Amino acid sequence: MIYRIFNIFLTSRILPKNDFIFDNLYTMINNSFVIKNPLRHKEFLTNGLLILFLFITSLSFGQTAEAETNFGVCKACHTIGGGKLVGPDLKGVTDRHDEDWIIKFVQNSTKFIQSGDAAARKVFEENNNIPMPPNNLTADQIRDIMLYINNGGKVAGGGSEASTEKTEATVTHESESTKILAEMKQEEAQNMYITFIVLSILILLSIFDLLVTKIVKARWIHTIIILIAVVVLGEMLFVESAGLGRQQYYQPDQPIWFSHKVHAGQNRIDCQYCHFTADKSMHAGIPPVKLCMNCHSQVKEGKRTGKKEIAKIYAALENNKPIEWIKVHNLPDHVYFNHAQHVNVGKVECEECHGEVEKMDQIIQVEPLSMGWCIDCHRDKEIQFTNNKFYEQYNKLHEQMASGEIDKVTVQMIGGDECQKCHY
Ligand code: HEC
Ligand code: HEC
Ligand code: HEC
Ligand code: HEC
Ligand code: HEC
Ligand code: HEC
Repeated sequence: MIYRIFNIFLTSRILPKNDFIFDNLYTMINNSFVIKNPLRHKEFLTNGLLILFLFITSLSFGQTAEAETNFGVCKACHTIGGGKLVGPDLKGVTDRHDEDWIIKFVQNSTKFIQSGDAAARKVFEENNNIPMPPNNLTADQIRDIMLYINNGGKVAGGGSEASTEKTEATVTHESESTKILAEMKQEEAQNMYITFIVLSILILLSIFDLLVTKIVKARWIHTIIILIAVVVLGEMLFVESAGLGRQQYYQPDQPIWFSHKVHAGQNRIDCQYCHFTADKSMHAGIPPVKLCMNCHSQVKEGKRTGKKEIAKIYAALENNKPIEWIKVHNLPDHVYFNHAQHVNVGKVECEECHGEVEKMDQIIQVEPLSMGWCIDCHRDKEIQFTNNKFYEQYNKLHEQMASGEIDKVTVQMIGGDECQKCHY
């Protein structure tokens, strides 16, 4: 009987706490939501239909429903024949510039201006030097948008509804997956508290009976109860203190309902438009209020929160108070971590460490940020070794590569598991 009770305690305590199982559960949930979810199939289907639609309309009208979706982000700053917003009215833009120019400008206007193009610089200066964010669009997608603009901002046909439907379907099921994750975490914590309290009461009862009431005559029962309880409590305290300050699945509420899904997902704003120091400095940085105003001087209302949340941006600006975002990812002070090294030199995608941020309404820390996690990646991760000026000094490795002794260089091989690289 006692064995059974403790077995329940042990499993309720250790099962959800076990990182390995928990990680697999997380992957399973993720898989079932992301890969096997029927909604996804629906999305594939809609995409397939869109492509078909694209094909048909490209024959008859020359522009597509996708163009309207893609133009969604532009609408924050541009009109078609409705006058100037943040950026110029795009009506007749194809008469002002040729196709190649527009493609370059839309993909990355800052780079294009810096490359010394006179026309680009002129447009930039005429618009009070407000930079236009880079866009992750292919040349074809941009041509498509231009056709859409030349058509007066109308889609030929009824395809746009399908695409709105698609976004709405994904909205609900993705926030659900994060919700489930949060619930699992809560349950895990609850299990732990219950075990902790029950065990503590058992110890007290045991001692009380041993010394005062003396109901149970066999003393060895007391000894066993106390011993086992102490061992389990000890293990709990050990695991907890080892993970102290570590907070996988941490998801605090932020002072403004800022959604990465709305910005990086639906509106496809580049991560580095806002986190603009990620590729050049240690910190990725959180954008200042002024940057929000590049768009929100025009976009005054959101689909989900109306005017309420965006108004907080104006309030912050007016009171000259920065928004107090709560930091989600935290490493202890004795660890050195550098974004530029990973993003710029290592070419590691944000997603590998932060998960699918563009699908999150609210940021959640999906990785443990433990030492094992850093080192696991360094052990396997191949670096772009040849033709990279950062690695020229590693002569021995270059020789081994040339002679075929090794076929790849991992982060570990250049010293990625040396203590002093990560610890001050
Ligand atoms: C954050 C606001 C913003 C968004 C979003 C935006 N633009 Fe712009 N755009 C500007 C500004 C500002 C300019 C003026 C040039 C400059 O300052 O660099 C501009 C200029 C342009 C120009 C040159 C216009 C001319 O008359 O010379 C084109 C073309 C253009 N944008 C297309 C797009 C397209 C296509 C999208 C969507 C994929 C888009 N823009 C999204 C702000 C924006
Ligand atoms: C190799 C893993 C890794 C990659 C790749 C990575 N990050 Fe991070 N990121 C971290 C860690 C670890 C922290 C916590 C840093 C700390 O507490 O000092 C963090 C913190 C942040 C923060 C909080 C502010 C800060 O600078 O500490 C932001 C914002 C951020 N990352 C955005 C990004 C973006 C955007 C990208 C892609 C351009 C990216 N990260 C790529 C691991 C990564
Ligand atoms: C490059 C343009 C751009 C920038 C920069 C930008 N936003 Fe937005 N934001 C948008 C667009 C577009 C929407 C969508 C409006 C809608 O729902 O149709 C939006 C919506 C919102 C919403 C309402 C969401 C909803 O659905 O109710 C909030 C709140 C918000 N943004 C906050 C911010 C904050 C805070 C910043 C600065 C850190 C910021 N935004 C920077 C373009 C931008
Ligand atoms: C429109 C501006 C904007 C864009 C675009 C944007 N972010 Fe953010 N990001 C923010 C703001 C504001 C915060 C702080 C509020 C929060 O945590 O939600 C933030 C927070 C974060 C954090 C949490 C930092 C912490 O506190 O530890 C990560 C990670 C992050 N962003 C990654 C990304 C990635 C990856 C992308 C691209 C897929 C991206 N961001 C695109 C504005 C932006
Ligand atoms: C997803 C993979 C990945 C993760 C996770 C990761 N790194 Fe890295 N790391 C890399 C890559 C790739 C490089 C190679 C970049 C370079 O050559 O400088 C690197 C390089 C480094 C270097 C420089 C090593 C050297 O020899 O120059 C340090 C320091 C470092 N990482 C610290 C960390 C810390 C601390 C963490 C955990 C908080 C971490 N990394 C997590 C991929 C990763
Ligand atoms: C790739 C980066 C990396 C390397 C290499 C590395 N560490 Fe760590 N180490 C970390 C991170 C990240 C943490 C914080 C983990 C946490 O909060 O649990 C950490 C935590 C620690 C801690 C504190 C343990 C705790 O539970 O708080 C010690 C001690 C430590 N490391 C020692 C070492 C020693 C010794 C070496 C060399 C054999 C080493 N580390 C190499 C990244 C690294």
